[in-house]
Amino acid sequence: MEQLRLAVIAGDGIGPEVTLEARKAMRAALDGVELVETEYSLGAAHYLDTGEILSDETLASLRQHDAILLGAVGGDPADARLAGGIIERGLLLRLRFAFDHHVNLRPTKLHPKVTSPLREPGAIDFVVVREGTEGPYVGNGGSLRTGTEHEIANETSVNTAFGVERVVRFAFELAEQRSKRLTLVHKKNVLVHAGGLWQRIVAEVGQQHPDVAVDYLHVDAATIFLVEQPSRFDVIVTDNLFGDILTDLAGAVGGGIGLAASGNLNPSGEFPSMYEPVHGSAPDIAGRGIADPTAAIISAALLLEHSGHPDAGQRIRDAVDGDVDARDGSRRTTSQVGDAIVDRITASKEQA
Ligand code: NAD
Ligand code: IPM
Ligand code: MN
Repeated sequence: MEQLRLAVIAGDGIGPEVTLEARKAMRAALDGVELVETEYSLGAAHYLDTGEILSDETLASLRQHDAILLGAVGGDPADARLAGGIIERGLLLRLRFAFDHHVNLRPTKLHPKVTSPLREPGAIDFVVVREGTEGPYVGNGGSLRTGTEHEIANETSVNTAFGVERVVRFAFELAEQRSKRLTLVHKKNVLVHAGGLWQRIVAEVGQQHPDVAVDYLHVDAATIFLVEQPSRFDVIVTDNLFGDILTDLAGAVGGGIGLAASGNLNPSGEFPSMYEPVHGSAPDIAGRGIADPTAAIISAALLLEHSGHPDAGQRIRDAVDGDVDARDGSRRTTSQVGDAIVDRITASKEQA
């Protein structure tokens, strides 16, 4: 039987709670494909237990998989042993960089039955194509006279023509398949070097996509439009940091961070892509069984769609839509939501 070799990094906090449900949904949705799951114990808790953040051996082992499902990583922000983002940078960003996840795909679609915090949300259906391997995330900075009143702290945003072009191309190709509207978000009025590069490349690649309408917004103005007129957006292409910030906002306007899914894509397939909810480990609600697993489950649908199993992905999406449709506001536990979605997947397979 065909296999799908899946690496699972459940991680910290609510990560294990939500990935459990995503895995149940994948197992239920796949048909004639054996899901071979390998669990990797990684994250803040694993680091505090063992001293490992992400060894070269573990990285090499992860590489042997078709795809990676990640819950969330990161521990108690007050824990001095985790200071300096060592888990976020040493694990999550290291994976994104090592596996060249240069497209960080973050869709937002407001389901008609989901209440957006916006008074008049209109139709919300857009995708943020966030660059995933460059920008200020590269860690190219430093501090001088550290700890003194004369400290100078620098963070350098790295933007290469190669890196910008490949993500911009991806965004245009995506826009071609959608509503043919692309918005570049940057801050070119201040960040003139990086902004100029992004603008030039969008203009150049845009010439090969004359049917895609191109728009530009400064990131500050983009936050206004995301709240006041989110239906104007189809595909947003932006750098790593702006994309991070915009997609938490996008999650909120799309009905909540518990619904926001993402894929860290290596489109060439040279390395495994990694799928994860946009949210973090949510230490404030971890261990209580109340986290919404829907974002992780939709991330699993994205995983299947991008791993050659679109039918199974669609089964999960339909089941999530059905579940969301039926929500009446009553509180459910994480596993109750997961089980209800699995039941819908199973029923749809039996009907087919
Ligand atoms: P967070 O996303 O973990 O939490 C923000 C708020 O959203 C919290 O109130 C939380 O309870 C709520 N929330 C998040 N997911 C939810 C869900 N599925 N259901 C219901 N409510 C949910 O962001 P944070 O508090 O800034 O970060 C916590 C930790 O997670 C930090 O260590 C951070 O670095 C890490 N983090 C990891 C990832 C990742 O692994 N991809 C992403 C973001 C943050
Ligand atoms: C996300 C997270 C990460 C990011 C952090 C935890 C490094 O916020 O996936 O959105 O900034 O990319
Ligand atoms: Mn984020």
